[in-house]
This record gives sequence, structure tokens and C-alpha cells, in this order.
Amino acid sequence: MLAETETLKFAIHPNTAPVSAADRAKLFEDLGFGRIFTDHMAVVQWTEGKGWHSPEIKARGPFAIDPAASVLHYAQEIFEGLKAYRAADGRAVLFRPDQNAKRFNRSAKRLAMPEVPEALFLEAVEQLVRIDAAWLPEGDASLYLRPFMFATEAFLGVRPAKSYIFCVIASPVGPYFKGGAKPVSIWVSENYTRAAPGGTGAAKCGGNYAASLQAQAEAYEHGCDQVVFLDARGEQHIEELGGMNVFFVRDDGTLVTPPLNGNILEGITRASVIELAKESGHAVEERFYSFSEWKADVESGKVTEVFACGTAAVIAAIGTVKFNGGEFSINGGETGALTEELRNKLVGIQRGKTNDERGWVRSIEGI
Ligand code: PLP
Ligand code: COI
Repeated sequence: MLAETETLKFAIHPNTAPVSAADRAKLFEDLGFGRIFTDHMAVVQWTEGKGWHSPEIKARGPFAIDPAASVLHYAQEIFEGLKAYRAADGRAVLFRPDQNAKRFNRSAKRLAMPEVPEALFLEAVEQLVRIDAAWLPEGDASLYLRPFMFATEAFLGVRPAKSYIFCVIASPVGPYFKGGAKPVSIWVSENYTRAAPGGTGAAKCGGNYAASLQAQAEAYEHGCDQVVFLDARGEQHIEELGGMNVFFVRDDGTLVTPPLNGNILEGITRASVIELAKESGHAVEERFYSFSEWKADVESGKVTEVFACGTAAVIAAIGTVKFNGGEFSINGGETGALTEELRNKLVGIQRGKTNDERGWVRSIEGI
């Protein structure tokens, strides 16, 4: 069995029919989010009694899995999301990938799956970026990396599977939202919740996202970009968006964000924003905050800015909030000054433009 710091030597099988440079350039003209994929993938297998084995980098392509594979029946699946950037000085860099590796293993534990040694997780990610370096966009775009793991054992009894595949794929991406950096609109989900106490809310497992889709569809029906979930106990506490954490900015410069109560994802962007805001002298309160408080605080002018944050969305101002029976706007529907400041700080570090005092940025050697 591998220790946390051990990795495996990947067999490299280059794609014999990669996308041509001319076709790639055409694809880069309109990236969108998660629609375009690179030439390769990293794959590692796990079998009970043997542990992690058969690591390889190969042409991206379909898996052949048994129709009884437990992921197809009991949703034993987890994933991560992180980005590689082309830094101002030409380096290829990752933002806090060790945190993704750690969260992946917390998710693995919760879904009764084997943990991936941190060094192996990072090696798979870096090998993929290295072989697909031509897909790393310049400018504001980035290469979104999607590590994931699923149960492959053909067995219909309900118990943890005895075999898994860990895979990493990559997708060059532009802004997550169609409107780019414009403030987004949010639908408050009063009919559906995302996570219940004791459930899997803090794990990044596919099932959480499946459970969010109908609420997200409701958001689209109401012309909103994203859905915000309230707590499952019915106390109207704001939890998080379908794929992002949320911050409220008060008129005295204090930030409020829902606490890590086991129901929400422990966002790496969230943790980074808290550090950056504190460093700039802002108090940050991690506490329960209800929808009625939010509405009242916007009406009274006590809350002046609200933003969503996550790897895919970075930091996006929330301009409009719609709910059953009404709507309100925040800061006249414009991006607020602190939202902008935090965004610039974070992006500056992520893209290697600002001094990285905390060692959040990791260079990928050999690109
Ligand atoms: N909350 C949910 C449900 C998410 O899917 C994400 C995205 O990964 C986040 C929050 C933000 O997490 P992070 O900042 O680590 O990307
Ligand atoms: C991410 O930000 O990495 C996510 O997984 C969120 C998803 C909405 C793409």
C-alpha cells in the first residue's frame, strides 16, 4: 500500500490522433465552460488487496464498465475541481492543489471509498497538464482540471465496492457564467434543499449535484443564473449555491459567510477569501445567516454587497435575488468595491501577478 507521500510511475501512451493546432485555435475562440476537452486523461485503478495500480496517461476516451458497476446504481462517486493557469512569467501553475487532494480524501472517506495518496493525486494532475500543455490557455482563460473517482465493481448488493477508477480529465475554460464578469442573479430554493444534517453536504460527490438539478432548473425558469439553498431543518439559514459558497458584505466592511456545519462544501476559494479579507483588516463572521435577515439587511442598507465564490466562478457579484413572491437587487445590480478588490487580489495570486507569500501557487515543472 502507498503512503501519503508516495506516488506511482505513470506509463505514458500519447494520443496518436491529437487535435491539430489549427482546430485547437478554433476551439479556443469560444471556450465557454466544460464543453471542450484535451487529448489525454490520467487513469489509476484500485483493487481490494492490491491498492492503487496501473497508472497511465492515455488518449481521452470512453470507459468500458460493467452494467452492474456500483457507481451506476448506488452513486459511489466523488470529484474535485481545480485550475491550472499560465502565469504572467510563463510558468504553468496550480492554485492550492494540496487542498483539493485533502478534500478529495475527506469526500472519499464519507463515501466509503479508498483514499488517494496526496502525492499520487498531484502527480496525476501534473502529468496530465504536462502532456496537454498546448491546451493551457493564455490570458483570462484557464485549464479546468477534474479529478474524479468511481466504483467499478459489478455487484448489486449495497456495500462499498472492491474496485475503483481514479481519473483526471482537463477542459480549457473561459468564464463560468455566460455574462462573464457581470453580476449574477440568484434564485432562492424554497421547495428543495441540497443537504441534510448528517448527510453528504460537505462531500464533493455527484449525488449532491444530482439533487441540486431540479432546483437549478427552477432557477433557470425564473431567469436566474444560480440557485441558493436554505438549510434542510427549515430555519431559513442560507447554506450555499449549487456550485459556490456565498459571502455578505456589511456597510461597516464586515464579511458574513455561512459556517462549515457539515452541510456545505468547504470551499478552497472561501477559505482563501477569508484569509485575504482578514489581512486587509476586515472582520469575517462565520455564522448562520437567514434569508429574512438577508432581505431586511439589504432593504435597510446594512448589507451592501453579496458575492459567490468557487474555483469555476472565481468571485462573482450577486446583483439580483429572486424568490417565491418577489425579488430585490443588491448595490443597484452592480459589482461592489470590496467584491472587486478581493477578486483582483485572488486572481493576482492565482495568476502569479502578485507576490505569493503563503505558498498557495505551485509551479508545474517541465512546461
Ligand atoms: N460549493 C459547492 C457546492 C461547489 O460545488 C463548489 C465548487 O467546487 C464550491 C462550493 C466552491 O469550492 P471551491 O472554492 O473549492 O472550488
Ligand atoms: C468548481 O467550482 O470546481 C465546481 O465544481 C463547481 C461546478 C459548478 C463546476
